[in-house]
Amino acid sequence: MVNNIENAIDAIRKAQNILVLTGAGISTNSGIPDFRGEKGLYNIVKKYGNLPYPEAIFDIEYFRINPKPFFNLSKDLFYSDSHPSICHDFLAWLEEKGKIKLIVTQNIDMLHTIAGSKNVLECHGTYTTAHCQKCGRKYSSEEYSPAIMENKIPRCSCGGIIKPDVVFFGENLPDSFYNLYYDRPKFDLVIVMGSSLTVNPAASVVMSFTDKIPSMIINLEATHYDNQIDYVIHKDLDEFAKIAWKNLKETE
Ligand code: OAD
Repeated sequence: MVNNIENAIDAIRKAQNILVLTGAGISTNSGIPDFRGEKGLYNIVKKYGNLPYPEAIFDIEYFRINPKPFFNLSKDLFYSDSHPSICHDFLAWLEEKGKIKLIVTQNIDMLHTIAGSKNVLECHGTYTTAHCQKCGRKYSSEEYSPAIMENKIPRCSCGGIIKPDVVFFGENLPDSFYNLYYDRPKFDLVIVMGSSLTVNPAASVVMSFTDKIPSMIINLEATHYDNQIDYVIHKDLDEFAKIAWKNLKETE
């Protein structure tokens, strides 16, 4: 295991086909809390409603009984005026330079796209679209979000609840995520940024690459996968991005 930042940057310099997995830690510098950190969502989630356990806010079975906490949280997310972090911008630049081929993000904040990244797989879904839970009709966020802003539960003309296409616990990830297994040979480096790697299959599928190609993690805290990863950097992502960006530009 290598902990040296220069060696990690050198691995990025040499790679031509990078796969990146991002988690909530890449957006904390944009003002969006992560989930399991000290100030993370699961520590403050009670303000959105009485939940049996924190993760219930994203549990499909619980949503069917009580969707209100999820919509209360969604209202806050719709109101947030967040901008991409330095690290989001750095990844967009690496894609423009042809190095990053795909960003798989567990985040639903769309900051990679806003930063200019084109090839982004939102494996935990999106707020951009939504579906009626009863008749399946599709809605855009412009159609369903006004109800959320008025503290109402968005409802379809058939009476069913309209649920944003965010992937809940108990739901499948998009097929394009599972196709990653078949795309595996085209990548020559896998980088994890800002994820505790506690939620499967996002963590396990991406970690299955580590026995075939070089791997790297940049995260404030240690994860239980660190001992399987070649380059392990425990650092703030924007600090890492600033150093790496300067260094890579100098040797372009
Ligand atoms: P977590 O909150 O579990 O982990 C975020 C990680 O980012 C932590 O290990 C932090 O130490 C690290 N971190 C925070 N700020 C950082 C910074 N500025 N620089 C570097 N590292 C930083 O978030 P995820 O791993 O994304 O799923 O969580 C995965 C999934 O759990 C989410 O997509 C969500 C959640 O339940 C669903 O809701 C389905």
